[in-house]
Amino acid sequence: PTPPTKASVKLGFDSIKGSLTDSVVVPNGYRAQVLAPWGTPLNDKAAPWRDDGSNSADDQANAVGQNHDGMHLFPLNEAGDDALLCINHEYIEPDALHPSGPTYDETTGLRTLIDEVRKEINAHGVTVVRIKRVSGEWQVVHNDEHNRRFTGATVFDMAGPVAYSDYLVTAFSADGSQARGTLNNCGNGYTPWGTYLTCEENWPDYFMNNGALSAADARIGVPAKATRYDWDHMAGNSEERADEFRRFDVTPGALGALYDYRNEANGHGYIVEIDPYNPRTRGVKRTALGRFRHEGCTFGKLEAGKPLVFYSGHDSRFEYLYKFVSNAVWDEADAKSSNRIATGDKYMNEGTLYVARFDEGGKGEWLPLTEDAVAKDGKTLGEHLGSLAAIIVNTAGAADLMGATPMDRPEWCAVDPFTGSVYLTLTNNSKRTEANPANPRLKNNFGHIIRWDEGDKPTEFSWDIFVFGSPANGNAETNLSGLAELNQFASPDGLSFDKRGILWVQTDNGAKEVTSYTNDQMLAVVPSTLLDANGKQLPLREGNQMELRRFFVGPNGCEVTGFAISEDYTSVFANIQHPDNWPYSADASAETPSGTKLRPRAATVVISRIDGKEVGV
Ligand code: FEO
Ligand code: CA
Ligand code: CA
Ligand code: CA
Repeated sequence: PTPPTKASVKLGFDSIKGSLTDSVVVPNGYRAQVLAPWGTPLNDKAAPWRDDGSNSADDQANAVGQNHDGMHLFPLNEAGDDALLCINHEYIEPDALHPSGPTYDETTGLRTLIDEVRKEINAHGVTVVRIKRVSGEWQVVHNDEHNRRFTGATVFDMAGPVAYSDYLVTAFSADGSQARGTLNNCGNGYTPWGTYLTCEENWPDYFMNNGALSAADARIGVPAKATRYDWDHMAGNSEERADEFRRFDVTPGALGALYDYRNEANGHGYIVEIDPYNPRTRGVKRTALGRFRHEGCTFGKLEAGKPLVFYSGHDSRFEYLYKFVSNAVWDEADAKSSNRIATGDKYMNEGTLYVARFDEGGKGEWLPLTEDAVAKDGKTLGEHLGSLAAIIVNTAGAADLMGATPMDRPEWCAVDPFTGSVYLTLTNNSKRTEANPANPRLKNNFGHIIRWDEGDKPTEFSWDIFVFGSPANGNAETNLSGLAELNQFASPDGLSFDKRGILWVQTDNGAKEVTSYTNDQMLAVVPSTLLDANGKQLPLREGNQMELRRFFVGPNGCEVTGFAISEDYTSVFANIQHPDNWPYSADASAETPSGTKLRPRAATVVISRIDGKEVGV
């Protein structure tokens, strides 16, 4: 039988009003539970979380990190009540992390406490934690053998074209085979063979270079003056601490020939593969998928005998959308592989990286980033940049040469399980002064969601804009999709399909026209059911616009990001990042009483129905 081309589910909840409180809001008949907030111990090596910021760096290395972002749930049974949850920790809130913020020597301006800086490094990265549902409540399984942390100090293997190249040679890795740390892990992906993909987004800010910048680091924006949290800037930083802290200063010659970290930043900016099922495996950085500020990484619809495709956006103003097409063709037997990292080697090390050019009339072209690709000026990328490793290290520079389309901050991609259409959030771009077909609004404060279908050739695609963010009272230029109070949104960011065909849209909101009405939120829509009389997919617009429904609103100050769902669809997981004054209790919808000041904790929220049935329908 031919597979269905549209979802059979219908949303079964009423769109909720906006909310501006220190609590989460869910539809009638639903409840929300706090799970695995920052500082939750994973094992006995970590002391219980203390609300005075006094936990040590070692505690943090064995506890859930800060500022949850992308995530995925890997089932351990068919019932869906026992699973491994992987959570990204994008960045830190130093004021919440420490008793009273970071400590500096007032005279020298240097960081003075080694344990404090180690704690900051350890609060970044990824958590892998086993969770179980017991009597309807999800619990962390303390001391489970799968529980582990990847941090800004963890050793990773490098794979793909940049591995073993001169670009990765450091005092730590003489052969360029390894790099240390994963940082600013924002969106995520997963693979058909059961591994987690964590995406390194705003990593350049963790480094500095006040000497001669490489073309690649100049293009990506490694700063000249200071690192984001001054990790390189320690009082008494001696040579033995070069490895740990000074490596973030990648100025050539900063520490003399013996401790040369000029290539340290070249080990960052990648898609990183982690096998959650096997705690004895190292994470692997998949350089073939490009080096930029990766927001997420999403595989395209699977077809046996066809190459695998992964999509990834570069989240910065006027940056690009990329796809990687594997050389190996998909073998369904690999979905059950027990050597998952080897399967990753098969599909994610060799292939072609492309960047998108969106043209008029809903047409588009994927431009290859290969040595023999011909750039706009008639010369090849090889002539411009050199080897494939050189092209990848400077992915964005190569994409410039090819004439890719500058976008309004590409964030997450999601693939419709029925149609295979790919959706991409373009979160906003207040600096846009020149429109292009795919980014048609000047000073785009509200963002939009674009989608495309692959063409017959791997270089062709066709696209349209699915929905424009807007306040409900926007004018004809802003409210292009006819949104109403019950579904107005801005700055779409997190984006995920579940297997039933429901698209979940999360916001990271900057536009006051919407933030004065509601905190950040999660909405739902079933795109494959929006069809015209000829069965052609429609965008969301006036007439069908109320098919987009607000499902969830987060607490004050937060962004809602990261999506997971249990195998039986009865639990939906979303992350609350950077809340102001939350959570008050294990009940995520308990409002913090006014006058109570909490040490804020990012956390996962589990949303379920009081009657225990499937969520959303
Ligand atoms: Fe970390 Fe682009 O959001
Ligand atoms: Ca994001
Ligand atoms: Ca964002
Ligand atoms: Ca964020």
